Amino acid sequence: EKEKTIALIKPDGVSGNYTDGIKRVILESGFSILRETIVQLDEDKAANFYAEHSSRTFFSSLIKYMTSGPVLVMVLEKENAIADWRGLIGPTDARKAKITHPHSVRAMCGLDSEKNCVHGSDSALSAQREMSFFFKGMSSGGGFDKD
Ligand code: CMP
Repeated sequence: EKEKTIALIKPDGVSGNYTDGIKRVILESGFSILRETIVQLDEDKAANFYAEHSSRTFFSSLIKYMTSGPVLVMVLEKENAIADWRGLIGPTDARKAKITHPHSVRAMCGLDSEKNCVHGSDSALSAQREMSFFFKGMSSGGGFDKD
């Protein structure tokens, strides 16, 4: 059965012109891109999105990074989409990804454990929450898109 997940290209990915390359990888890997929107997060929205990390030492730096420019948010769909997209992006630390997963998205465009270029939902619950966070049509609650 098909599954949906959120793929997010972070500010360094958008400003570094990695968007087209990442989308090509997504489509060549058999995902459909159901929805997409470009969003400039403010501090409140970024803190809400990453609420589960609010007690971490890197939290304020993460919020600064995620509000430094627009992000591109997509809803991807295919069988096993959540795990497959997480597999495709590789480990959180892009420096590690370059060594252990040289063909991963983070190896291609990430820098380190923070500036890692892309995000993927880590569970079905996160995917649901993140879809309703960005796309109001996909669940209850307010989204960023207009329709
Ligand atoms: P992401 O997969 O979007 O989930 C949480 C984000 O926090 C992560 O990608 C990184 O951008 C950031 N992050 C995770 N671990 C660290 C770390 N050790 N130092 C700095 N940033 C981190």
